[in-house]
Amino acid sequence: MSSLAVRKSPPLKGEITIPGDKSVTHRAILFGGMAKGPTVIRGYLPSEDCLCTLAAMEAMGVKSKIQGDVLTLRGEGIEGLTEPDRVLNMGNSGTSLRLLTGLLSGLPFFSVLDGDDSLRKRPMARVIEPLTLMGAEIRGRKNNRLAPIAISGKKNLRGVEVRLLVASAQVKSAILLAGLTADGTTRIREPFLSRDHTERMLKTFGARIDTSPEGTSIEKSDLKGIEVDVPGDFSSAAFFIVAAALIPGSSLTIRNVGMNPTRTGLLKALKKMGGKITIENERESEGEPIGDLHIQAADRLKGIEIGEEDIPAMIDELPILFIAAAFAEGETKVTGARELRVKESDRIGVMAREMRKMGIEVEEYPDGLRIKGSDKARGGTFTSDGDHRVAMSMAIAGLVAGGESAIEQTECINTSFPGFETLLKKVSGF
Ligand code: S3P
Repeated sequence: MSSLAVRKSPPLKGEITIPGDKSVTHRAILFGGMAKGPTVIRGYLPSEDCLCTLAAMEAMGVKSKIQGDVLTLRGEGIEGLTEPDRVLNMGNSGTSLRLLTGLLSGLPFFSVLDGDDSLRKRPMARVIEPLTLMGAEIRGRKNNRLAPIAISGKKNLRGVEVRLLVASAQVKSAILLAGLTADGTTRIREPFLSRDHTERMLKTFGARIDTSPEGTSIEKSDLKGIEVDVPGDFSSAAFFIVAAALIPGSSLTIRNVGMNPTRTGLLKALKKMGGKITIENERESEGEPIGDLHIQAADRLKGIEIGEEDIPAMIDELPILFIAAAFAEGETKVTGARELRVKESDRIGVMAREMRKMGIEVEEYPDGLRIKGSDKARGGTFTSDGDHRVAMSMAIAGLVAGGESAIEQTECINTSFPGFETLLKKVSGF
């Protein structure tokens, strides 16, 4: 099992780029495999999660070629996808599992999807139930609530209206992908807007999809291959943004970062805490906003309150926001984040436990945390519970805290951020 040793860091300086966006890469691979004609994905993320999606599409007959950081897919259209002759292994990736469940529900063949121990614990009823309403035939463990799941795909799914109880891009995307092959219109509403990469990218692939503040609707459509430039992943940049905000004397530029407003809630929160962050060179690529970020160390961040409506746009950044709060002046209270309990780990319980090891006072709620910031937090030996974002958050905590730290179980970092350790060493010089 691999581990990472870090210690208190000198100021972070210079200019870096971050690997490609995970959500955008998953979608480009899926839609490219469903499209007719070549799809060229420049700057794709070669992480374990995205490679699971690629392997699944290849198992359905999609041809691919990798040259440097360019992935080219040659799809034959949705009708060209064929029955996989093996169980599709989704590894640790909830996005692969849920989005593929939506797609496979509407394809006329049998498939089985499985994953690692963490993925087998993650709730699947949230996708299986609405897809069943559309006519899908899906069976899973524990009364159709958990993976492995088996799908007897149907050619004639029917469009339905779905009102989601939780804002979830994975659930929304699974239903939209089923809607793409269903008869009639599929409409989805969610309580708060979750990341909208699927809607933006399906439009560019030529799908008949409509978005409005009331929700999203989609009709049966054929997709046509496109060229995609994948921006740097904001969720990966987040670790370096918080590190530079916390480490005195830092001045760091991160180029070419995805700035989709459904993803950048952390910036708003950090600015409210007193963070000094500017966005430069704002531009757009295939419907996705991109920018360069400049982060200057803050004098001292201040605690804030974060509620339910703020959560979807920072859902994956909450572990690193907790670290920002641990070093801030005063208290930070996060509520309305119950979803964190069903991520790659229980991110409320695991982060509370790890921050207590640093000497931070933390109170756990069913749906969040209260964190009392301190300037005396100490390093220690931390464990990730196999969760990549916990591992990287604790590595950043180790750069800011006094003394030396060790983070155990760090191999999971490869699910989203290959090269994290190298980049951390480059900017901090430890
Ligand atoms: C993702 C959606 C989010 C996020 C995950 C990636 C996506 O999950 O946490 O890391 O790419 O659609 P939920 O839809 O479960 O909130």
